[in-house]
Amino acid sequence: MQCYNILRNLHHRVRHRLCSMTSNKYCTRVLSCDTSSVSFPTTYPDIADPQTLEALRDAASLLRDQQVVAFPTETVYGLGALALDAVASGRIFSTKGRPADNPLIVHVSSEAMLYRLLPTTYRIPPSYQILMKHFWPGPLTLLFPTDGSTVPSIITAGQPTVAVRMPSHPVARALIAITDAPIAAPSANSSGKPSPTRAEHVFRDLNGKFDLILDGGACEVGLESTVVDGLGEDGNIRVLRPGGVTVEDVEKVLQQEWKEVETIPTVLVHRRDYRDDAMEHAPTTPGMKYRHYSPSVPVILMHSTSNSSPPDGTESFPVRVFLSSLAQRFKNEQEEVRVGMLTTSDSPLLDTLPNAPGILWKHYPLGSISEPYVTAQRLFDGLLTLESTGVSLILIEAIAEQREGLAVMNRVKKAAEESVWLEV
Ligand code: TXA
Ligand code: MG
Repeated sequence: MQCYNILRNLHHRVRHRLCSMTSNKYCTRVLSCDTSSVSFPTTYPDIADPQTLEALRDAASLLRDQQVVAFPTETVYGLGALALDAVASGRIFSTKGRPADNPLIVHVSSEAMLYRLLPTTYRIPPSYQILMKHFWPGPLTLLFPTDGSTVPSIITAGQPTVAVRMPSHPVARALIAITDAPIAAPSANSSGKPSPTRAEHVFRDLNGKFDLILDGGACEVGLESTVVDGLGEDGNIRVLRPGGVTVEDVEKVLQQEWKEVETIPTVLVHRRDYRDDAMEHAPTTPGMKYRHYSPSVPVILMHSTSNSSPPDGTESFPVRVFLSSLAQRFKNEQEEVRVGMLTTSDSPLLDTLPNAPGILWKHYPLGSISEPYVTAQRLFDGLLTLESTGVSLILIEAIAEQREGLAVMNRVKKAAEESVWLEV
């Protein structure tokens, strides 16, 4: 982190010299962007701060040279490259260590740019028109058909669909507009790790693997976009990955705005409302085939019996019993066990957990139980911050799967190797 703070915004040549004096042969540059200086009088940005303009031009020029650049979005930091250039987007896969059969989201800065990706005869369905009107720019990704003539198969993993979103973060949208090209961008982390929500998370994970990170501060949403497939013949909306736009909000705008003779599309959440075994084994279902969101230490998910009962056949434990088993399992020689704890700030678990002997707690609060958007905002930062403090394991409290809590629990269940039911 110290390295990050010192190197941030240093002149390129000075930074290069500093880096060669340290163990790194090559250092990734980090350039600050003033998000408030970027506005969109049209779909092309107006940038008042000269340093931000210079940083964006620098990044756009790297992108046009087929390089990858990390940039902030409202959800998480993305690792971008030209989407319509197979060599450039191939660099995303090698930088992240991403499996080649995991398709990428393409980011656009305007609807005109979306049309560059679509078959010329394609008409956007009414459900998508409503969703785009309400949630674009923003954390909603929509699947569109592609005929293979424009979008390279490295982006779609050979599927007949391409996932597209228009980010609302001024720096992301400006970068795409200035580059004047659709930008493919997964989260800017090594494959399998929690997604980065601050420039320093990207730097810590991927320093030296590419040239430039644009630093636009902490991401507002904190977890990835909602991925929606509305292309099925039944016209229903299938949520493949819950995310920044809540299912409740998708349902609400469809109810409010639907004007067709056909019935209002039903919103179905994958694994909650429907299952598709064939699809789950295909990499196109976000986060299904590969390990995801996992820090380098074990993560245990804690359910409380005060909120819901354990499923049939699952045992619950008094907190005291659980803690002494943890202390046994993770203790090393004379030291106390360092345990990271992610809970809501008003959690009933806080009355009992921190009193355990033999455990040194590092607590990272996730906001109030009544504000799941704050939990979403803080989740990945919490996992990455606790990991960097050298804890032996991380405990996360389960929250209600409503509103942003649905996306939070989707990530947490994948991050956790085990779960436990505590008698609270
Ligand atoms: O918020 C976000 O979506 C962030 C920021 C950077 O925009 N990006 C992101 O990308 O989360 P990534 O690669 O980490 O997740 C994209 C997910 C993948 O898991 C993939 O399975 C799914 O979107 N996806 C992409 N193209 C698809 C397609 N054609 N069909 C189904 N799923 C697709
Ligand atoms: Mg990702």
